[in-house]
Amino acid sequence: MSTQFFHQDERFVRDFGVLSQFGATENGGVHRLAGSAADGEQRRWFTELLESEGFRVEFDQVGNQFGLLELAAGAPYVVVGSHLDSQPTAGKYDGAYGVLAAAHAAFRLAAEWRSTGAVPQYNLAVVNWFNEEGARFKPSMMGSSVYTGKMAATAALAVQDPDGVTVSEALQSIGCMGSGTGPTAAYCAEIHIEQGRSMERDGVTIGLVDSNWAANKYEFVVHGEQSHTGSTVIADRKDALLGASMLVVAAREIADRFPGVLHTSVGQLNVYPNSPVVVPSRVNLLLDLRSADEAVLAEADQLLHDRMLEIEQAADVRIEKGSSHCWPVMPYQPEGVDLAEKAAVDLGLSYRKVKTLAGHDSTNMKDIVPTVMLFVPSVEGISHNEHEYTRDEDIVAGLHMLTDVVRRLCDGELDARNS
Ligand code: GLV
Ligand code: MN
Ligand code: MN
Repeated sequence: MSTQFFHQDERFVRDFGVLSQFGATENGGVHRLAGSAADGEQRRWFTELLESEGFRVEFDQVGNQFGLLELAAGAPYVVVGSHLDSQPTAGKYDGAYGVLAAAHAAFRLAAEWRSTGAVPQYNLAVVNWFNEEGARFKPSMMGSSVYTGKMAATAALAVQDPDGVTVSEALQSIGCMGSGTGPTAAYCAEIHIEQGRSMERDGVTIGLVDSNWAANKYEFVVHGEQSHTGSTVIADRKDALLGASMLVVAAREIADRFPGVLHTSVGQLNVYPNSPVVVPSRVNLLLDLRSADEAVLAEADQLLHDRMLEIEQAADVRIEKGSSHCWPVMPYQPEGVDLAEKAAVDLGLSYRKVKTLAGHDSTNMKDIVPTVMLFVPSVEGISHNEHEYTRDEDIVAGLHMLTDVVRRLCDGELDARNS
């Protein structure tokens, strides 16, 4: 590794420390929901960082933040990045690592092209997708869903948080409401922490993501009837929280029928009126089922729907199905995986093919352009948790890997493979 690269690596780790201060929590994590003040602060910092390296920053119609370097006049872009928003009391690597690595990879490539005078075949866009997490505004992966035409911008902008603030209002309040549809992509790349244990267990530094797990995410509303917890006899109760609790347990019991190949959870439960001495009349909950095997997912989904009918009877409630957000198992383009494998071999980095269990913005992007998704290991697989951790040597190795992959994409290496 050259001395110059060494200094650049140190600068990357230092910049990551600075980025991790936005919305920092006392246990070493971050709390920066999409469109919050902390999100606004980190976005302003990121704009300054990109501009200081000669990139032009623009926001599109749903607040996706792009740092653009146009060297090949009129050519489409290699779009590389991830998301800076986080879950509540979250880890500092999820998304943010991929955004900063994209920026630093782009800075290195820009410097290379400046010094050699080479003109890449494609332009380069660093991206910070808006609201990947879906924690404050549902659904998740909102910015990339609009960019890829899976969700209408008007629908996204009208989504409200639990306090009734819309996406549009939140974006305006942090000065990130842009216009237009962003740069045209030719290729996409994203790097992310694995958020699981498999790479750490196998001792590999780079994960080449070849497909994603399928997911069915549902919003359910359990309707009961408000009454007195003391005076209403049990036979008369329509307890929405009892019905919701039975759904929570059903989700787990269904997962237990498919050990290791099905993940289910209820991550959010809103109880109304959530008051002492009141049998709840309504519970909104979010339940998700995920598998790499679509047949397993379909069977589990049917079991869930059968259980819903039983729960309605047993708890004397009505379960309404609200919005859903589902995606199938989809491979990443094999030629992109091959290109990444070549980069890993050339850099002498250990690697393995992996699947992503979580959704990512690249899961959307790969449906419109060839997309390369890379992972670095997560210590103990901890994620969506303040103790999420990836070692500095791994984030730096991932940066080298991403830089090489993006260089190849900008040089049109995948065009050559496609032709
Ligand atoms: C991301 O949005 C996920 O649900 O994994
Ligand atoms: Mn993420
Ligand atoms: Mn996440």
